[in-house]
Amino acid sequence: MKRAVRREQAIKDVERYGDAALRSDVMQQAFAQKHHLRSTVGEHTIRVACAAVMICYVLRRLRVRIDLPAVVVGSLCHDLGMIGRKEKYASNLESYRRHPEASAAVARQLYPDLPEKTEEIIRRHMWPMRKSRIPNSLEGFVVSAADKYSSVADLVRGGGNARGNPGEVRNRPGR
Ligand SMILES: [Fe+2]
Ligand SMILES: [Fe+2]
Repeated sequence: MKRAVRREQAIKDVERYGDAALRSDVMQQAFAQKHHLRSTVGEHTIRVACAAVMICYVLRRLRVRIDLPAVVVGSLCHDLGMIGRKEKYASNLESYRRHPEASAAVARQLYPDLPEKTEEIIRRHMWPMRKSRIPNSLEGFVVSAADKYSSVADLVRGGGNARGNPGEVRNRPGR
């Protein structure tokens, strides 16, 4: 599969498994909150989800079993606890420390039947940064890796560009 085709497939999978998060008010707010200097939380979130799904495709080609819905929901919700950061947290350090647990709480609201595995993906997503617990599932490692990779991409490329604009998921017709 060519990269452009894989990317189109990744967008479809993010939309299929992440519909509740993508349609939520908190996700709308995420596109208005700055993140990583040149990006927004929403743009970063979509970028992480697409990168994580692309990693899953590689793993599947290697015949590794991976829970795609857990990866998509974990990716889409991992930083939603940061929304309203200035009102919620006294400092950047507090936001850094507390947003994973707050994101897990947002995910539970959006997905009342949220599996424990997905919750743990969100709680542990800051790994390997300081004081974060190590992921306890393969899916957790995928989301953590996609998050770190995408954080660098946010800084280098900013919110979006012609090649893989992270806004393309939510800007699709009908969304
Ligand atoms: Fe985070
Ligand atoms: Fe993140």
